[in-house]
Amino acid sequence: MNATITTTARYVPKNIVTNHDLEKIMDTSDEWIKSRTGIHQRHFVGENEATSDICTHIAKSLLEKRNLSPDDIDIIIISTVTPDMLAPSTAAIVQNNIGASRAWGFDLSGACTGFLYGLETGAKFVESSQYNKVMVIGVDTMSSILNLEDRNTAVLFGDGGGGVILEQTGDNSGIFDSILKMDGSGGPFLQMPAGGSRMPATIESVENKMHYIRQDGRTVFKFAVKGMADVAEKILEKHQLTGDDISLFIPHQANKRIIDAAANRCGIDSDKVLINIHEYGNTTAGTLPIGLSEADDTGKIKNGDLLLLAAFGAGWTWGSMLIKWDTLS
Ligand code: UT7
Repeated sequence: MNATITTTARYVPKNIVTNHDLEKIMDTSDEWIKSRTGIHQRHFVGENEATSDICTHIAKSLLEKRNLSPDDIDIIIISTVTPDMLAPSTAAIVQNNIGASRAWGFDLSGACTGFLYGLETGAKFVESSQYNKVMVIGVDTMSSILNLEDRNTAVLFGDGGGGVILEQTGDNSGIFDSILKMDGSGGPFLQMPAGGSRMPATIESVENKMHYIRQDGRTVFKFAVKGMADVAEKILEKHQLTGDDISLFIPHQANKRIIDAAANRCGIDSDKVLINIHEYGNTTAGTLPIGLSEADDTGKIKNGDLLLLAAFGAGWTWGSMLIKWDTLS
């Protein structure tokens, strides 16, 4: 018995920030950002808008689309590195916002691979038959941890997310298999040093801009192409599949050049690769579920299609997942 995705939804904040907007506040150009990353714009939250607000939009859409009552939900899993606060969890805030009084849940930190970690975790609950309906949301409000004086990083990210409801499916469909990886030795290359127990907030930590995400872009780039392509190739091989058997490849949206290189290595034609980085930038745990929901809503995927998902991110974390599409919505 596999877990299957029966419903998808997404939400991005209304406020659009173009590359030209960024040109006005940092030493960058629309031409550089487009040619080096493929990003044209991103969405940033408005004042008083936070991760749980994005999640609440997504959760309500999921319930509406699947015609469920909040009490039908057993577990809420929120994959994010930008929770509203460290405690309580964003899952608890969302549970209260939507009135899912029967649900328990938790936040899960897997950076850009967070949605795959969340899906795998949620699927195991469903497959155990102890829980019927698990909501998994991948979301990030990256604008809350961006240093707008660091052009190497600030131009890449945006806010938003998406989610799914996982339920049991009787036959040979749903979440087939996944390969998930982690290598903590990559930590220093992509991190937000302060704000946790290692470096609690002090005047110095704020002044030294330690509460912002920072990265070694070139090292991340090299790891990303290799990491995503390695696991995607491995999962295809394991099931005696090739790129031709895949109906749609949904990769993490961090850089168009990373996506092209990974798809190329896996032998997947460019017309089967979902790309929306130009609209949203890198929404961290949000990219995969936003892509999945767009593909679902626009009829890019139909029941029986084989989907390949792949992601990489801080940690290092990376992984790939094979899904036979069988949505009921
Ligand atoms: O989910 C994971 C999150 N992180 C990533 O995915 C990042 C992966 N890495 C990348 O996507 C790329 O490495 C970047 C987009 C970050 C950088 O692209 P690059 O082609 O590797 O550029 P670079 O770092 O080699 O820099 C080339 C030049 C440098 O100038 P000099 O030293 O050659 O004069 C940079 O200072 O581009 C400059 N540069 C910029 N120029 C205009 C770096 N950022 C910018 C910018 N605007 N925003």
